[in-house]
Amino acid sequence: MSSLVVIGAQWGDEGKGKIIDFLAQRAEVVVRYQGGNNAGHTVEVGEETYKLHLIPSGILYPETLCIVGNGVVINPEVMLDELNSLKDRGIDTSNLRISDRCHVIMPYHVRIDDLEEDRKGEAKIGTTRRGIGPCYMDKTERIGIRVCDLLDRDIFREKLSANLAVKNLILEKIYGEAVISFEEVFEKYCGYAEQLREYVEDTTITLYNALREGKKVLFEGAQGTLLDNDLGTYPFVTSSHPIAGGVCIGSGVGPTYINRVTGVVKAYTTRVGKGPFPTELLDETGDAMREKGHEYGTTTGRPRRCGWLDAVMLRFAVRTNGLSSLAITKLDILSGLDKVKICTGYEYDGTVIKEFPASLDALEKCKPIYEEMEGWHEDISNIASYQELPLNARKYLERIEQLTDVKISIVSVGPRRNQTIVLENHI
Ligand code: GDP
Ligand code: IMO
Ligand code: MG
Repeated sequence: MSSLVVIGAQWGDEGKGKIIDFLAQRAEVVVRYQGGNNAGHTVEVGEETYKLHLIPSGILYPETLCIVGNGVVINPEVMLDELNSLKDRGIDTSNLRISDRCHVIMPYHVRIDDLEEDRKGEAKIGTTRRGIGPCYMDKTERIGIRVCDLLDRDIFREKLSANLAVKNLILEKIYGEAVISFEEVFEKYCGYAEQLREYVEDTTITLYNALREGKKVLFEGAQGTLLDNDLGTYPFVTSSHPIAGGVCIGSGVGPTYINRVTGVVKAYTTRVGKGPFPTELLDETGDAMREKGHEYGTTTGRPRRCGWLDAVMLRFAVRTNGLSSLAITKLDILSGLDKVKICTGYEYDGTVIKEFPASLDALEKCKPIYEEMEGWHEDISNIASYQELPLNARKYLERIEQLTDVKISIVSVGPRRNQTIVLENHI
């Protein structure tokens, strides 16, 4: 048995897709365990760029089994579009497996996500408006529709009509909107069900057998630690559990099957959507990071907020995920700066705090305390070994290791597979 969880240690978009794709060269199974098409994972292979939202990033390897675990919420239309566009580009998708326990995103989830964000106005979360939150709400309310329900016309008819009776009341009476027609949704979704049927199975069995046979399994996190519904910057979070603990619930494996956890850390910090961000740079340095790093959302195209690396946040991610190593991405984007900064603590209410607070009010008031380091000017995007990196880049990495007390196992210096420096073997 050899399993590795790869999670985002910040607010998402750390470069998980790239790291997973790189590690998937040696994996036999890749599993998504939470989130839905709010995720946008970009993978560059040669001249080709793939933007994956629902399908695990292992799909680009024909031999790799890709599992969409029960914790993922599926918009069937998006899943089919993604499958078809991969097929059109010559990618074999026959190794995809979808859990029969996944919850299904319905048109009313997307509508309500949209309407509720608009209703909140300035107080909005800044969601991706993909219906993720409303779908997970139905799951916890125990009225959700699962893939196994969708595959059975009678059960689906019953669940859809029960749901629409309530959702249409909400649409009409609360938002003053047009209702959703049962017939339209029913026939369309039954059509999706037939196209997806061949991929659906009880993936807990597939995964259990793979682990028992000693296969190399990678768990692919979406979003990031600070977007976790329990441990993130609530309420500016997503509705699932991106942290490593989410793997067990979202894929149906026990914790005894998890060996290692790698946290993907962007060499600086970005965030899409609203919520406090202590190290945010609202100046030309932040703008330069956004332009050089192409920091625009893969899913929504929104500009990402940018700032310095935050070691307070990273220590929180180390603790809450049990990180065994770090994968640092986009180090190349920091080249050319005279100085680079790392936040090592916050000044709050006249005191210095070293731990990430739960209260958002406190976090809003936290002022970062920075350690300034010398930058480097060399283009590092073609460097293949750690020793060849400029001394100041190595000092920056070593300082991250000291501040987090976790070793770095991968340094990424560009979006492609061959722009990856491996410091330690992984899987
Ligand atoms: P994810 O959601 O965590 O998978 O990250 P995204 O794909 O949303 O955003 C990361 C972006 O950075 C993508 O466009 C990647 O191709 C790109 N990327 C990943 N690693 C590196 C790197 O080391 N250097 C550069 N320049 N780009 C990278
Ligand atoms: P990947 O997997 C960055 C953010 C949204 C919003 C909050 C809630 O590409 O890292 P949601 O639609 O999930 O209800 O939105 O979470 N968010 C992400 N930010 N990367 C993502 O995914 C994200 N998925 C959701 O911007 O602030
Ligand atoms: Mg992304």
